[in-house]
Amino acid sequence: MVPAPVGAALGQPLGAPAPRLTDGATALAAERAGRPSGGHGRAKACRYPPRPYPTVLLGFLLLACPIAAEDAAPVTPASDRATATHSFADVDQWSKVFDAPKRDTWQKPAELVAALGIHPGQTVADLGAGTGYFSRHLAGAVGPDGSVLAVDIEPTLVAHLRGRAQREGTANVVPILGSADNPRLPAGAIDLILIADTYHHLDHRTRYLPQLRRALRPSGRIVVVDWKPGELPEGPAPDHKLPPEQVVAEMRAAGFTLVGELDLLPYQYCLVFQTIR
Ligand SMILES: C[S@@+](CC[C@H](N)C(=O)[O-])C[C@H]1O[C@@H](n2cnc3c(N)ncnc32)[C@H](O)[C@@H]1O
Repeated sequence: MVPAPVGAALGQPLGAPAPRLTDGATALAAERAGRPSGGHGRAKACRYPPRPYPTVLLGFLLLACPIAAEDAAPVTPASDRATATHSFADVDQWSKVFDAPKRDTWQKPAELVAALGIHPGQTVADLGAGTGYFSRHLAGAVGPDGSVLAVDIEPTLVAHLRGRAQREGTANVVPILGSADNPRLPAGAIDLILIADTYHHLDHRTRYLPQLRRALRPSGRIVVVDWKPGELPEGPAPDHKLPPEQVVAEMRAAGFTLVGELDLLPYQYCLVFQTIR
């Protein structure tokens, strides 16, 4: 593995020279050129459950071994259902969970957002924004000339997001009431969609995910942060979790390819996708 700072690799448009490391972007380039990427073989050495934390000396690294979608079961309408379907309508209850101060120690929102290579003026979406835990950090990254489209399907949370943006002075956060089958994002407008702890809540993903593709700009990225398999000190029960190989397979079926993985969080994987052209 030849690690490189994520800012260098993730900030690059797809047409730019390949980064030094053999990462998802290199696999994509090989795929485009009709060569096997070699990702499958290396992925076998890149298994979850996770490495001990912290494993990375300098923080944010792209792994050299992309997760192989081929390792997952085929994507079928029966396998793409949400694994957790409970309500998040109770703002007080969920604020205590999502905005608990101790969450920062393992969720590392500032480090995660910094590692995403977001530029001032960009338009990003926080899909499944919840109480706005990540929206606030995203708002700082895009700055006053950018926008954070904070989508949730719970009207109570969308109202909370609006109030929170006013209280915190983040006028660039735009709450959007989505629905389970429609994120209600504008077409061709989004530079980055963050799906944090929400992917496994998305239902009928084979139908849903292509809508995210339509919302992205050509160079846009989708970042999926979700739970590593198994029993962990934080996060949902193991049967609510989706293995990263399944996420990669579903995203591939929807027209996205894995271009990188951030090895930053102890309990969650962080997968970066771009549109397949
Ligand atoms: C576990 S919470 C994560 C909240 C936030 N991303 C965070 O990390 O603090 C999942 C959120 O996704 C929302 N959600 C579930 N399905 C959704 C969908 N199809 N579109 C948008 N939001 C959804 C829920 O209402 C809930 O607020």
